[in-house]
Amino acid sequence: MTHPLEELNRQTRTIDPCIIVIFGATGDLTGRKLSPALYNLGKDGMLPANFATVGFARREKTNEQFRDEIKNDVNAYSRTKPIDETFWKNFEQKLFYHKGEFDNDEGYKSLNAFLRELDSKLATRGNRIFYLSVQPKYFPIIIEKLKKNGLIYDSEDTEKWSRVIIEKPFGHDSKSATELQKEISKHLDESQIYRIDHYLGKETVQNILVFRFANAIFEPMWNYKHIDHVQITVAEEIGIGTRGHFYEEEGLLRDVLQNHMMQLLSLVAMEAPVSLSGSAIRDEKVKVVQSIRPLNVDDFKNTVIRGQYGAGFINGKEVIGYRQEKDVNPNSNVETYVALRLFIDNWRWAGVPFYLRGGKRLPKRGTEIAIFFKDAPGVLFQQGGKNDPNILAIRIQPDEGIALKINCKVPGPSSPIQPVKMDFRYGSYFGGSPPEAYERLIWDCMKGDSTLFARADEVETSWNVFTPLLQYWAANIPTDFPNYASGTWGPQKADMMIEKDKRAWRIL
Ligand code: BG6
Repeated sequence: MTHPLEELNRQTRTIDPCIIVIFGATGDLTGRKLSPALYNLGKDGMLPANFATVGFARREKTNEQFRDEIKNDVNAYSRTKPIDETFWKNFEQKLFYHKGEFDNDEGYKSLNAFLRELDSKLATRGNRIFYLSVQPKYFPIIIEKLKKNGLIYDSEDTEKWSRVIIEKPFGHDSKSATELQKEISKHLDESQIYRIDHYLGKETVQNILVFRFANAIFEPMWNYKHIDHVQITVAEEIGIGTRGHFYEEEGLLRDVLQNHMMQLLSLVAMEAPVSLSGSAIRDEKVKVVQSIRPLNVDDFKNTVIRGQYGAGFINGKEVIGYRQEKDVNPNSNVETYVALRLFIDNWRWAGVPFYLRGGKRLPKRGTEIAIFFKDAPGVLFQQGGKNDPNILAIRIQPDEGIALKINCKVPGPSSPIQPVKMDFRYGSYFGGSPPEAYERLIWDCMKGDSTLFARADEVETSWNVFTPLLQYWAANIPTDFPNYASGTWGPQKADMMIEKDKRAWRIL
């Protein structure tokens, strides 16, 4: 996604001393992603020398307890293992806990005093990142309180800066996203807002643009003349775990489809940007979403399928259904699976269906974009039917890579034709494990680079696509939930939907 020179610029841009304050420091995301990300950034020498992390949450806790918890999380979830004890001893000295209520000024006042104290001890120069890893309903109040208590500076301040990373989902639908934007922009300048979509921090996602625009051979075929259809899959084995409260509020459409999957769709379908600047790339991504044909009631009934997992087996182990999960209503109608068909009504993609499916408790984890090319002319090598189509599969995770399926002659005199795979694998080519998405994004925020964060209009446009569907769903309760067993590829209706178009979901 970045020009090599721009990349060099980014790398060498100095990172100011700063403190990162994590709101929701005892939550699931902090444990699984943020703590390991900060640890690995530190271990790779990417954090500024003058740096501290402060966890802010409601529970009473000492610094020592907080440090132990973070250590356990790093042990459990870090991409580098085992923990480096020598590095940890140093790192934990700069981890602190601060107790406070999100909606009470007291906690913010004492936080401000504490951060100033740290500034003088650690020479962090007043620079702050506030990471809002909390339920979305708390975003406005936390931002308001931060501003009111002097923790957010004027964006024009040349001495020190403050930036706010906001987790997704940004809003609940079009109206609430617009209201949230209006509310937070009372206190923050756009340059201080970092709307995180961690998919943009994934190496393989950033590589989509390099793949498309740094190679000459694919782009001429990247359109309705050569492409039959596109499939985007985000399949997860895991259920909703301890996030019952969150899922009951959000569901899979808001959790994964409206943001992560739409980012994948935008990157794969966008036009070449005029430059590699953040705004040029985001301008093109927005145009894709704006060109999506609005979904109507007919689509809601026939080409949008929602599902909810029941009990079943994952890797031979019995697992419970969604309605039995902790903090979930036993009659819940929240979706844990969505499959749908979209059209992008622009010159490049006229008539090309994009099939998207995302779900929890599917048989395996796999995120992939598959481009299905049109059939070769029906002469010469049609052995009793059609040959397999050429498929270009961009594997986002796991086993990151790109594979091209082509037809090949099997050696020998009888000449049957067999599809084979040309396969590029990141792991075997470049070695090692790439940095986690959160490492890259936190690092970018420290540098003040918002290229890989979502812009307000991207988020709002995406909500415009899905809000009518959400309203339809709210008014039309599903009668068949749970409609897929854990460990299967989702509801049968999703297969039927694509089969009606004489196509089939790719087997991952
Ligand atoms: C998160 C969602 O944003 O993305 C989770 O809230 C989901 O429900 C996760 O599991 C998937 O991320 P990844 O990086 O594992 O594909």
